[in-house]
Amino acid sequence: MDTEFLNVADYERLAEQALEPGPYGYFAGGACDERTLRDNVDAYGRWQLRPRMLVDVSEVTTETTVMGAPASMPLLVAPTAFQKLCSPEGEAATARAAAAAGTVMCLSTLATSAPAEVAAAAPGGRRWFQVYVFKDEGITRALVDQAVESGFEALVLTVDAPGAGGRRERDLRTGFEIPAGTGVPSLDAAFGGRSVTVSEAFAAMDATLTWPDLERIAGLTELPLLVKGVLTSEDAALACEHGADGVIVSNHGGRQLDGVPATLDALPEVAEAVEGRIEVLVDGGVRRGTDVVKALALGARAALIGRPVLWGLAARGEEGVTGVLELMREEIALALRLVGAPAPQAVAREHVQRAPH
Ligand SMILES: Cc1cc2nc3c(=O)[nH]c(=O)nc-3n(C[C@H](O)[C@H](O)[C@H](O)COP(=O)(O)O)c2cc1C
Repeated sequence: MDTEFLNVADYERLAEQALEPGPYGYFAGGACDERTLRDNVDAYGRWQLRPRMLVDVSEVTTETTVMGAPASMPLLVAPTAFQKLCSPEGEAATARAAAAAGTVMCLSTLATSAPAEVAAAAPGGRRWFQVYVFKDEGITRALVDQAVESGFEALVLTVDAPGAGGRRERDLRTGFEIPAGTGVPSLDAAFGGRSVTVSEAFAAMDATLTWPDLERIAGLTELPLLVKGVLTSEDAALACEHGADGVIVSNHGGRQLDGVPATLDALPEVAEAVEGRIEVLVDGGVRRGTDVVKALALGARAALIGRPVLWGLAARGEEGVTGVLELMREEIALALRLVGAPAPQAVAREHVQRAPH
């Protein structure tokens, strides 16, 4: 057993040592007072597991399906920007590790590796493309075309960053900015082959987007469309009405609007409003296999992790991402066994309760 890396927190400690304070703060930080950032993690402590005894768990599987296709576990890799600032191989290493683990990797619009490069690195892997919508529809279309050509299976439309990132005070304090020359090949190509800065990219994003636009964006491809960043029952219902194929309950890892609910607290109302019409996923603060089981019990088909993957990547490159994903898979398997659910689908609302205050 690798006693250096017993859990996700161990990876974070090593990542903090491996990274300069500026990039570490960029990856670790949240908006303003970081209330939501902390609450995403703390929310998992406000729910307890209700294990059922004498259930046959002689065979436990973590396998499931997500958006109609198999995944080795109900845990996916969330889209995170600028992975080459963690490790030189960046998103290609993450893609290889996710494919080897048998789960889905989401590639950010702001990725430092091109969709084609990621596809070539892990040809057998499942991958989704996270898209931001630009005022110039030609740019959005060019991005989406790259994803389609490279065999991405779904689009993830992030709706909680309308043309602006949150106020990240760690970056203001360290003076961290994405280093000039950090290439975002998919964006550069979509902008006609010139180098685009992050602030330029955000300024070019379309903040006029409203729910009826969803149909137009969905119509850009045949691919299923998931809406990422939903936190309320109202928006969950609108996502269903406007043709989304899935929603991801997310607050961008506490990086956008500080003071919004922890995603685990928002999950039940979203799941209730969706009424099983489409799949509901959740991300933010997932650090343990038991967290994943709690998310399943409260209505998620699967959870996603953002920072834990970055910690693996910064600590040990591809091997580190593999380490994090394997660790989480083992923890999920053990949690399922001990809670008395032989498969992810067997987890039900009865498996959790609010912790007494
Ligand atoms: C450094 C960093 C960069 C991110 N970049 C993106 C992005 O480009 N697009 C996006 O939709 N979400 C982005 N996210 C949000 C993640 O997809 C995800 O919602 C969040 O990380 C989940 O919380 P966790 O880090 O606690 O697991 C980013 C998060 C982090 C930490």
